[in-house]
Amino acid sequence: MKPKTVLIIYYSFSNQTLNVVHGLAKGLEEGGVIVQFEQLKPLQPPPFPTDSYIKALRMMFAAFMRHQIAVEKPAAVNSCDWDLVICAGPTWSYHPSGPMLYFLSQFARESLAGRLVLPFICCRTYWRLHAWEMRRLLERAGARVLSAMAVRHPFQGFWCTFGVFAKLAGKMPHFCQQMLQTYCPRFGYTQQQIEAVRNIGLRLAQALSEGNMDEKFRI
Ligand SMILES: Cc1cc2nc3c(=O)[nH]c(=O)nc-3n(C[C@H](O)[C@H](O)[C@H](O)COP(=O)(O)O)c2cc1C
Repeated sequence: MKPKTVLIIYYSFSNQTLNVVHGLAKGLEEGGVIVQFEQLKPLQPPPFPTDSYIKALRMMFAAFMRHQIAVEKPAAVNSCDWDLVICAGPTWSYHPSGPMLYFLSQFARESLAGRLVLPFICCRTYWRLHAWEMRRLLERAGARVLSAMAVRHPFQGFWCTFGVFAKLAGKMPHFCQQMLQTYCPRFGYTQQQIEAVRNIGLRLAQALSEGNMDEKFRI
């Protein structure tokens, strides 16, 4: 039987999504699926870290206003009759990231219409508005959209919000270090979470080969 094929289109700013999609791909490949990656590449990549509190705040505000960040036209999307396309990326100020918004508004119709698409969200905590927007934009482009999957950072609460901000700014005020060590000792995902995502990849591979993606992964 012809192996199933999955394209993972992703954007990653601080490499968290990158780690997660590699875990996902590992599971898919173990399940016999051929996986290809397509990274969304901004024409003018935002620097990480921003190296200033003001620039970090400005970036968060622009993201809140759903500011799009232009990306190169992805090459692989139309190169194959993919059985599944996964669109993965971080939540930025409640919304999809600027590069993903640009991709969806500029290229989704020509590349994703009629295709089965799984939105995959990497965030600290909040993902529901992001998931709703992904569905709306993908459906508008004519895609067949599965229920979004979201992976949240292992630690929550104020100090973790602050931790993400400090990472973004690339600055860590001395008086905060102790609090962060106590309440948010880690930025990003744990190895156990990556392992859990690998298992999701295996389940996806199984559903793809059984031909029941719609029943298993659609709300
Ligand atoms: C500008 C910006 C805004 C963010 N806003 C949110 C948010 O509203 N909700 C949330 O849960 N996480 C938010 N985050 C955290 C990221 O979604 C999270 O760290 C994610 O794992 C980053 O993935 P990446 O490294 O692939 O970019 C934000 C991060 C950045 C850089």
